[in-house]
Order: sequence, then structure tokens, then C-alpha cells
Amino acid sequence: MKNPKRLLVASLLLAALSVKAQNTKQTFVSNLIKRMTLEEKIGQLNLLTSDMDVTGPFMKPGYKKDIEAGLCGSIFNAYTAQYTRQLQEMAMKTRLKIPLLFGYDVIHGHKTIFPIPLGEACTWDMALLEQSARIAAQEASADGLHWTYSPMVDIARDPRWGRVAEGVGEDTWYGTQVAKAKVKGYQGSDLSANNTVLACVKHFALYGAIEAGRDYNTVDMSRRQMYQFYLPPYKAAIDAGVATVMTSFNEIDGTPATANKWLLTDLLRKDWGFKGFVVTDYTAINEMISHGNVKDEYEAGAAALNAGVDMDMQGGIFAGQLKKLLKDGKVTQKEIDSAVYRILAAKYDLGLFQDPFKYCDTTRAKEIMSAENLAAAQKIAERSIVLLKNENQLLPLKKDAKIALIGPLANSQRDMIGNWSAAGDYSKAVTLLEALKQRSANVTYVPGAYYTADTTLLKRATQKYRLEAADTANSQQMLAEAVALAKQSDIVVMALGESQGMTGEAASRSNISIPENQQQLLKAVYATGKPVVLVLMNGRPMTLEWEDAHIPAILETWFLGTRAGNAISAVLFGDYNPAGKLTMSFPRNVGQIPIYYNHKNTGRPLNPDNKYSTKYLDTDNEPLYPFGYGLSYTKFTYGELKLSKQQITAADKLQVSIPVTNSGNYDGEEVVQLYIRDLVGSVTRPVKELKAYKKIALAKGETKTVTFDISVEDLKFYDKDMRWKAEPGDFTVFVGTNSRDTQSAGFTLK
Ligand code: BGC
Repeated sequence: MKNPKRLLVASLLLAALSVKAQNTKQTFVSNLIKRMTLEEKIGQLNLLTSDMDVTGPFMKPGYKKDIEAGLCGSIFNAYTAQYTRQLQEMAMKTRLKIPLLFGYDVIHGHKTIFPIPLGEACTWDMALLEQSARIAAQEASADGLHWTYSPMVDIARDPRWGRVAEGVGEDTWYGTQVAKAKVKGYQGSDLSANNTVLACVKHFALYGAIEAGRDYNTVDMSRRQMYQFYLPPYKAAIDAGVATVMTSFNEIDGTPATANKWLLTDLLRKDWGFKGFVVTDYTAINEMISHGNVKDEYEAGAAALNAGVDMDMQGGIFAGQLKKLLKDGKVTQKEIDSAVYRILAAKYDLGLFQDPFKYCDTTRAKEIMSAENLAAAQKIAERSIVLLKNENQLLPLKKDAKIALIGPLANSQRDMIGNWSAAGDYSKAVTLLEALKQRSANVTYVPGAYYTADTTLLKRATQKYRLEAADTANSQQMLAEAVALAKQSDIVVMALGESQGMTGEAASRSNISIPENQQQLLKAVYATGKPVVLVLMNGRPMTLEWEDAHIPAILETWFLGTRAGNAISAVLFGDYNPAGKLTMSFPRNVGQIPIYYNHKNTGRPLNPDNKYSTKYLDTDNEPLYPFGYGLSYTKFTYGELKLSKQQITAADKLQVSIPVTNSGNYDGEEVVQLYIRDLVGSVTRPVKELKAYKKIALAKGETKTVTFDISVEDLKFYDKDMRWKAEPGDFTVFVGTNSRDTQSAGFTLK
């Protein structure tokens, strides 16, 4: 329909229909609220966990009684079409038959598990990121769920924090792209379809900036820093129509996010226009007492509702306190009614009032872990792998090589699906050992070591999952077996790193190297003189200086999900040529943290010949592997960078182009990255900021010219008066294969 008149008529018609739908919804929900008692209203603000899973510090027993009494409007940690039907039937027996909403942490897949988000981000492929969210939503909705607690878009510059595994990495602009793709994937274009779910952007806000990388710690940040670097990914999710927002555990400006009215009302609702509902993180209202901004649960409940919270996750505070708070005039009827409205509106959008059982359809079981979903998981896993080093083209492996496979992670199904793989079934995960054996008869495996010999670390990491037990008694013998096996082989593949329990929530580490006993194993095998391929499995950037200096080939594989083994072996044997690029810098040592590529220049930029310039005496400023870094089996040669103009106005577009040639021996993909620096600003600007990228496929010998259009929008920032603006002046544009190795050229904005 190209006719402009018809297009106009069609869009007017759509707008009219949507106004009509809004009106119908408003009437329905408002009428329902009129019929509700105060207890029933408060019940809608109460979210309780079922006993199928535990994702926080305590359980409130008796959630079924609350459902039956109409005192609980939503449940999390309950899934399967059968179980949610059973609970929904209870809700249907209550006076007003208001359907329950079922939420869950569907973080990187539901049953088919995709790479951990930090790994998946390394694909630099938004279509794939959207696809994995779409599949997750499809499987979750086929398994009784309405609502996922994803995406997590907390920008993080500190790899000690275990939750970097769940996020997008350190870059703000990249984070906005991921946020959009994920919301679109989960929610689709129609929430009332039976295979879409509500998304929940989290943790609002700034959780990635906790001090010292220690989970649940304090955040202290200037407004400028928030607006420029930390808030945009959440905002992008709001703009993409995310239905719900989860508050963070940390404080902001001395007030916990869950009690922060500026954050939840002024910024989120008034400035950003968010219309959905706000849920707290797990017991975040109760935790205010420990934070010390309130004295008791009574004050905590008032602080949360007054700030703009709609739903209390597992704290029971709204359920226990709101009635009295209302009577005492500490909260208003309007605040309660607005929260109820937003929650009922979300249930309405899902179509639950029409059919409360629409997600309890057991015939949809075949949609879960289908062959298609598993194939997508493998494709995405392959594309998440980052080749960190490949000296003398040690990889890909020769088909007939005699391979020694060594390391505790090579044969661990549980670790393959990583942390926060809540409903994931690890018994279906393919390990590296299994996948390599399917390909080659020349593979022999010994573990060589346990995850760690540090029993304190082990105990703390495995509080929840008791699958990593260490018996350190025979560690010497294990090491000797590994060395003996290495000696008899042509090449050694070593799967080392962190167990999944050493990453994720409540899994901060002050030392982010490969655990010492695994390093000893690596060093002993290296000493045999056999070529070693290090296959890293881990949930965060690690410190790898020794490994980088000695081991010829290093592959970063994160925790890749259900098809991890297949994906790694496809890369090891060269069936897929790796193309992943890091979205978080790998420091040389923990002393460099926080470390990120888009830092400021300082008044004394690094000058190796000047003692009084910004530097360390004992290490470099640069990370070991920078943001955007990742190698390929082939070689990409960048030609000359060209700009269409030297000067642009606010109305112009600047064309930046560069020819890229595949000058190596394999077909491959390359992520061509564009960064910009604003040389002089009314406030200081970062040395480089990612503004665009293109992922291209190049056959052996092929050249493609990559062109980017830069507009004034790409030059905007929060100026001295906090206006989002571009300032006239000189800029540098950088294009290259990562944030460090670039070519540059200058232009001026008139
Ligand atoms: C986490 C959230 C999660 C919630 C529910 C909390 O501990 O911080 O990310 O969604 O639990 O399981």
C-alpha cells in the first residue's frame, strides 16, 4: 500500500482503534477497581514466590492460602502449564476471579538455554539477541508464564561483580541497542498473543555501579554520570515499550532505589512517560531497615508506595502495612488505586481477563526445546565465542590430531547452562567432551583438577547448588594423570575457568583469575611443551596476563547454554570461524578496576616519558583485551578511512567509509566499529564513544566498503546545563576492529 492517502487513512484508523481499545481497557479496569475491597486491592500489590524455586533470602510459607483468600495477585517461581493452572484455578474461586500473573527469571532462555547475556552480547547481532528473547518468551509462555524478569541492562565497569554475567557489558550505547532488541523479542508487537510475555527492565537503577564490585553494595554517583552513562539503556527499554520495571537493591543519593521518589516518579513516570508497573526486587522494601533510611516495616511500606512502587516482591510489607498506613494518612487511596490500576492493566493487556488459562496449555509442550530452538541456541552460542589469541594459527584443530582434553569444565553439564538458568534442564546440555567425542575418535579426557582448592570460596559459591563438591585429597594424582596424558597427545585442549556458581548474583570475587589450582594444572601441562588451546568458561572478564604471555591459543566461551559443547567444537574444528567481540574490557590485574574504554582524558594524559602523568608504576593503563576485541581465523585488512566532508552542519549527514578486505585463508565475519571523540565540550568528554558498528561477512579474498552515516544525533551529550545537545566544534572519528586498533580522521560541526 504505497498510496500516501491510503497510508494516512490506515494510520488514522489504527490510531482510532487504539484509542478505543485504551478506553475499553480503562473502563473495564476502573469498574473492577470500584468493586474491590481494600484487602483485595492490597492483594494485587502482593507478589509471592511459590515453593518450586528459591531466588532470594527467605520464603514466606502459605502463599496458596493467600491466593485462596484473594490476598495475592501475582506469583513467581512457579511454572509448567499444569502447576500454573492449578494455582489459577484457586484464583478463579475468589470473589472477583481476578487472574494471577506468573513471573519468573527467564534470563537467558527458559528451557532451551542460550549463552549468558554477557556472552551473547559478544555476537554484536541484534537480530540474534531478539531471536533468543523471542524463543525464551515462546517457551516460557508455553510453560505457564506471563512475565520475565529480563532484560538486565546495568552498565558495569567492574568485573569483580558477579552479576556482570547477566548484563550487556560496559558500553552505554551498545546497552541501548540490546535493551530494545530484548524488549521486542519478549513482548513482540502484541502482548495479547499467547506466545508473548511482559518484559521487566532491571535493576532500576545504577546497580552495575556498586562500590568495589561487591554485590548489594552502595552506589554514589553524580547526576551527570547517571544521565550520560548509566540511565540510557533503561530509558531505551522504556521507549521500546517495556511493560514493567524492577527497582534495584542499591541506594541512590542516599535513598534506596525502592524508596526513591525522584527515580521512580519524577524521572521514570513524569520525564520518561512510563505507563507500566514497578515491582521491587526481592524483599527490597524490607531491606530499607538495614539500609537505615526507615526504622521499621511500617515506615518502609510508606516510603516504597510514596516513591512510586506498585508491587512488593516477596516482602509482605504492603500486605502487612498498607491498611494501617492508609488509616493513618501516611499513604493515600489514590496511590493504592493507581498501583492496582497499573497491575490490572498489565493483566488486561495479556488477555488474562478474557481467558485466565490461556498460558496453561499443555499441548504447547512441543514448542519447548524444539529442534529449531536448539539449532538457534547453537548458532547464537557459536557467535558468542571470542578468540582472544591464536599464535601461528594453532586453531582450527587438525581433523586427525590426537587430542588430550583436560580440565574440570570439559565434562560438566551443569556449568554449561551457566548461572540464572532457572528452569534450564542441565541434563540436556552438551558438554565439550561429549561434542568432541562425537567428532573424533582421537579424544581422551581427564579432569586434571577440581574447580578450586580454596574450600572457603567453594563453600560460599555452592551454598545454593551443591554440584561442585571438591575432594582435594587426590589432586596431585589428578595433575599427574593430566601431564601424562598431555605427553602422549599432539595437542592439549584445556577447559578451565570458573564454575557457574562463582558467577552471577551474590558471587563477587576480589581475585578474578583462574583459580590457583587450575593455574597449576595449566602450567604443568604447558611445561610438557605440547601446544595448548585454552578454552575459557567463565561469567566475567578475568585477569589472564600469564595465560596471554604463554598459551598460544585462547578461546573465551563464557557459559554458552544447552548447546555449549557443540558450539565450541564447531569453532575448534573451524566449521564456524569465530567472530565474537568483547563488550567488557579484560583488565591486566584487579588493581586497574574500574576499567572501561570510554574514560576521560584527565589533565595529565598518559605520557610514558613523564612521571607526572596518569599511570601506574607497576602496570599499563591499557587493559589486556580491550572493549570490542576479538580475533578471527582469517585476517581482515582495513584500507583508507574516508570522510565525505570535513565540515558538517546540524542538517547534514557525514559519510564515513572504509574498505575492509578478507586477506586470510578462511571466510569470516568482522564487526567494523565506529567511535567518536568530541575534542572540546562545555563539560569534558570521553576519549572515545561507540556510535555505530556493522557486522559484515567476507569470503576469502573479498573486499567490502563499509559506510556509516553520522548525523548530529550521534554527537549529542548532556551539556553543562544538562541539555541533550551537540556543540559545534572539532571531532575525531575512529574506525577499526576494536576500540584500541583504529584509524582516525577529523571533522568539524559548524
Ligand atoms: C534478583 C533479581 C531477580 C529476583 C527474583 C533477586 O535476587 O536481584 O534480578 O529477578 O531476585 O528472582
